[in-house]
Amino acid sequence: MKISSLISIDDLSDSDIASILNESRSYKSGIKEMQKKAVIMTAFFEPSTRTRLSFELAAYRLGLSVAHFDGPNSSLKKGESVLQSLHTLRCLLPDLLIVRMSEKFSQEFINGHGTRLINAGDGCNEHPTQALLDAFVLLEHFGSDDLFKKKILIVGDIQHSRVAHSNIKLLQRLGAHISLLSHQALEEEKKSINGDLFRDYSDIKESYDAIMMLRIQKERLNSNFALSENNYSERYCLTAHRLSSLGKNCVILHPGPVNIGTELSAELRFSPKSLIDKQVSHGLLLRAALIKMLLGDDYEKNRIFGFS
Ligand code: NCD
Repeated sequence: MKISSLISIDDLSDSDIASILNESRSYKSGIKEMQKKAVIMTAFFEPSTRTRLSFELAAYRLGLSVAHFDGPNSSLKKGESVLQSLHTLRCLLPDLLIVRMSEKFSQEFINGHGTRLINAGDGCNEHPTQALLDAFVLLEHFGSDDLFKKKILIVGDIQHSRVAHSNIKLLQRLGAHISLLSHQALEEEKKSINGDLFRDYSDIKESYDAIMMLRIQKERLNSNFALSENNYSERYCLTAHRLSSLGKNCVILHPGPVNIGTELSAELRFSPKSLIDKQVSHGLLLRAALIKMLLGDDYEKNRIFGFS
């Protein structure tokens, strides 16, 4: 007789036990297949709204399944470390693992991974999918395949911003001219750009095609950070007046979440010059394309899981 619930080992007959073990072996050997399509797993050890949901929705829209690692309700609570948790997730063999964490990915973690991996933001280091998304939105706005001769100003706490670091690399590769406005940018950052380094809006005398505002990185600030939130706002907050000095065609980007009044004035958040909503909606498209590229043939093909 087949059981309909398993509450205790006592519920199982000897043949039930043998049947479960045999079926498990046949999945391992590939004699029997589980779901053919790939399964992606998202593991976010830092908060996220846009990035996580756009990855998950992109996977669903591609007809894939998603398993989400629920950090606050996971074994992290029982003392498992982030790295141990990631190792555990890897043992479950998702076809693609999408990870955000507060530290830079170590080479050991990347090498030892054994599954496809996407960086959804690693500490202050990089956020490559946000940069790809920002490039996508800018190219669409300019109606072009490249960013040659486009002047882009990135504003805020460059040093701690993974969004800025990935965008500086990518937008310049697409031909853009990148300048920074940051009291904090260091010589190292200056060397990474082909444009100017400004300390104050009043130092800027030219017009720009786009301004990219960054989020204040409160969670990464320590005593070395000289600016309070009020000072940050005074120095960086984009207002209509400041925007007007950047030329009449300058559009606004911000990766979100926006701290209104600190990074951007309320009137600009929903102004026609803001591409911020597109930076959300287009995330789905960009991330779908990336998932499909990384999965390659495994996107649809029947696979025998690589259990050892
Ligand atoms: C960024 C993030 O949380 O990494 N936003 C985003 O991914 N949409 C913002 C940031 O941290 O600068």
